[in-house]
Amino acid sequence: MCGIVGYIGKNKKAIEVLINGLENLEYRGYDSAGIAYISDNELNIIKEKGRIQNLKNNLNLNTESRLGIGHTRWATHGAANKNNAHPHRCNNITIVHNGIIENYIELKEELMNIGYTFKSETDTEVASALIDYLYSKYNSMDKAIIEFENKAKGAYAIGIIVNGNNDNLYAIKKGSPLIIGVGNNENYIASDVPAIISYTKKYITLNDGEYAKISEDNIEVYNEFGKIINKEIKEFEGDANSIDKCGYEHYMNKEIHEQPEVIKKTSDMDNLPNINNFSKITIVACGSAMHAGLVGKNLIENYGNIPVDVEIASEFRYKKLFLNKDNLVIAISQSGETADTLEAVKIAKKYGCHTLGIINVKESSIARECDDVLYTKAGSEIAVATTKAYSAQVEILSILAYTLAKNSDNVKSIVEIKNFLEDLKKLPIVMQEVIDDEDTYKNIANKIYNKNDIFFIGRGIDYALSMEGSLKLKEISYLHSEAYAAGELKHGTISLIDDNTPVLGIVSDEFISDKTISNLKEVKSRGANVIYITTDSLNKNGDFYDDKIVLPTVNPLLQPLVNIIPLQLIAYNVAKLNNCDIDKPKNLAKSVTVE
Ligand code: G6P
Repeated sequence: MCGIVGYIGKNKKAIEVLINGLENLEYRGYDSAGIAYISDNELNIIKEKGRIQNLKNNLNLNTESRLGIGHTRWATHGAANKNNAHPHRCNNITIVHNGIIENYIELKEELMNIGYTFKSETDTEVASALIDYLYSKYNSMDKAIIEFENKAKGAYAIGIIVNGNNDNLYAIKKGSPLIIGVGNNENYIASDVPAIISYTKKYITLNDGEYAKISEDNIEVYNEFGKIINKEIKEFEGDANSIDKCGYEHYMNKEIHEQPEVIKKTSDMDNLPNINNFSKITIVACGSAMHAGLVGKNLIENYGNIPVDVEIASEFRYKKLFLNKDNLVIAISQSGETADTLEAVKIAKKYGCHTLGIINVKESSIARECDDVLYTKAGSEIAVATTKAYSAQVEILSILAYTLAKNSDNVKSIVEIKNFLEDLKKLPIVMQEVIDDEDTYKNIANKIYNKNDIFFIGRGIDYALSMEGSLKLKEISYLHSEAYAAGELKHGTISLIDDNTPVLGIVSDEFISDKTISNLKEVKSRGANVIYITTDSLNKNGDFYDDKIVLPTVNPLLQPLVNIIPLQLIAYNVAKLNNCDIDKPKNLAKSVTVE
């Protein structure tokens, strides 16, 4: 949610670094972009509405500059236009900002009363004015930043250039992510590693309240009281390839194809935390991570025999809760930065709950907040619509369900899943076969890509998968799509089923497969175009479907990881046929760091 990058150094041309960094952060937001840089001792600010490419078209990448900051925006305050685009400058202070200054209206009034005027609708311009005011008051950036942190409420990461000081770049972090990239006679700031990975693998993470004064050969980090602190320099494990499309047309397709490898890497789990002694589990997450949680709920309840609630983190944080220390709270997040999920963890801790994160990004805020963390090993996920990180989350939940089942006295579970570990090892090969069945998914996509309404139905775990399949389709293709519990359809939604309305029915649970097939018959007899997705052990012939996808049957704890693949690839191919911007769907952002 908004991407920040900054550069100071002699080795490179700042503009080139900023643009390259922004291009690699574009998944965080892409409704406008801008940079500020010093060239010939002059500050220049260039901004454009829309994608980085628009900004690039208006720049000379060869301009000599050794200091600059850049930003790609996901609008929170004010329309997505050039005027509201960052950087924002007020007198001596020019900033880029990610996050929200919650009390910006009060601050704006105070600043207007002392003569400041504003050109944009953003909270960021208010932040630039406040820092400018404090800097002129104290004639010290340290004092200005410390007081700014006391006055500005909310979450923010900010990069600052100060007029007349071409030797330093400042960075503040409170709530929103920010790292410092460490180079040789050059340094960087960035919202995330992809922005700087092609230049350096060394980085420093800032904690909330910390700020940094960065020159080309020095990095000083201070705590919120202005005391200088020592920071560890870390090394990123991935390489630049992890953010390359590697020949694929879209990151989403590349990431779908990476799933077998991700499943293999993530299966390598030692040191699982002991979660046997909790009477209840509550999963908190947003978006697809929440859908992964719903799959996990089914697996843990059915096999692990523990009740599980799945809560949308943005609802959880404002509702009455009945938590206690016997409750394990699992937070699921790819980015580890989702503001609502982070807050949900903090709330759970206040209730005395033990918290376990299932997180993809190491050292991220949620990872640091949770008592225990299990890392999904999905690597960098660039496409806004998640695929491989979702699958890795489901995999960890199935491993947890297995562990609970193994330690329980539920004989039925133990028998059903007894070969889990061997089956998990074989799973990547099975997933690869399913991925390779490309023509099947293209064929289905061809039949549905021009329909206005598409339904996904299933029961139990298949309903949880339907929700993710439906979300994938709507978020990248903009077609209206809904997921329904198959038995619920006749309580209203069936009135929307018309001639040729596509209904994708997922039937992979033996216990209720006949019931779902009855529901497919109901929609088929009302004209629906039924796409029946099932497993080879449950496969039925009949006249209740128009198309059928038969998937390999695997261990029941792993079946969702096979079943999700056709849904991802159908969504991908539908979006492709509709010429959609698959990796960057409109209005979305990958990392949602505002509530
Ligand atoms: C955004 C992304 C989704 C993701 C959700 C939660 O909406 O587009 O793909 O599922 O945020 O993100 P997280 O990083 O917490 O998994």
